[in-house]
Amino acid sequence: MEVILAKSRGFCFGVKRAVETVYEQAEKTGGDIYTYGEVVHNEMVVADLEKKGVKVLEDRVSLKSVVSGTVIIRAHGVAKDVYEQIETQGLTLIDATCPFVKRIHKIVEKESAEGKQIVVIGNPRHPEVEGIVGWCNNGATVIETVEEAENFVPKEGKEVCIVSQTTFNYNKFQYIVEIFQKKDYNVTVANTICNATEERQKEAKEIAASVDAMIVIGGRHSSNTRKLYEICSKECPNTYFIQTLDDLHLELPKSVRLVGITAGASTPNNIIEEVQNYVRINF
Ligand code: F3S
Repeated sequence: MEVILAKSRGFCFGVKRAVETVYEQAEKTGGDIYTYGEVVHNEMVVADLEKKGVKVLEDRVSLKSVVSGTVIIRAHGVAKDVYEQIETQGLTLIDATCPFVKRIHKIVEKESAEGKQIVVIGNPRHPEVEGIVGWCNNGATVIETVEEAENFVPKEGKEVCIVSQTTFNYNKFQYIVEIFQKKDYNVTVANTICNATEERQKEAKEIAASVDAMIVIGGRHSSNTRKLYEICSKECPNTYFIQTLDDLHLELPKSVRLVGITAGASTPNNIIEEVQNYVRINF
């Protein structure tokens, strides 16, 4: 069977870099390593790392109980006070925050220090957004919906600086920014959306449109994988959503000659390769 493998599949640049950092540290130190939050939302990767002595810290309270070792900050980044807490506790800090997220931290830190009111367009419950807010001098307003944007009024005489969660939808971001601009508020806008997700979706759509069957690999609860599945299903009726090779029960019609494969953001490469090899050899 001929297979087309999406180039932008699985881990994005930032997550790949963070996962590699954790593995490297685990090799080097042989344990006593913590990640602040799961380095990637993938049970298998987290379980594998646990075997190598890497534990996950859920929050500031669990961080408090750590007396020695290394704490790795994942790609999403964290608030400034978490860095301070790690240092105060005398722990080793390794920062694997994605450089694109770090850039947002720098922008909001500088702009809020200069007195601007920061608005983050994104999901207020997302750890990345919580981290960004934690780099603002006097907090920030998080706006997720068009309605919230319409109701927003800046503080008296304040300039506003708008940034975005890296994975926010670009069209929605533009729309919300226009609402601010129409109201004639004094705003500066930093488009901090990362195009990794969009690229992955665009390529998956193109591949799905040109193959006889499409396989989408990713966690059942992963919203970006579900989105990939939706996009591909529209282009290719033979689209399969699997977590690992074990879920793959392909019954392909004889006419199928070309299979496409893509994967959600938290799917490690070894799972993708396993599926790819299986399909190549067995069909
Ligand atoms: Fe990934 Fe960094 Fe973009 S974590 S989605 S490459 S902002």
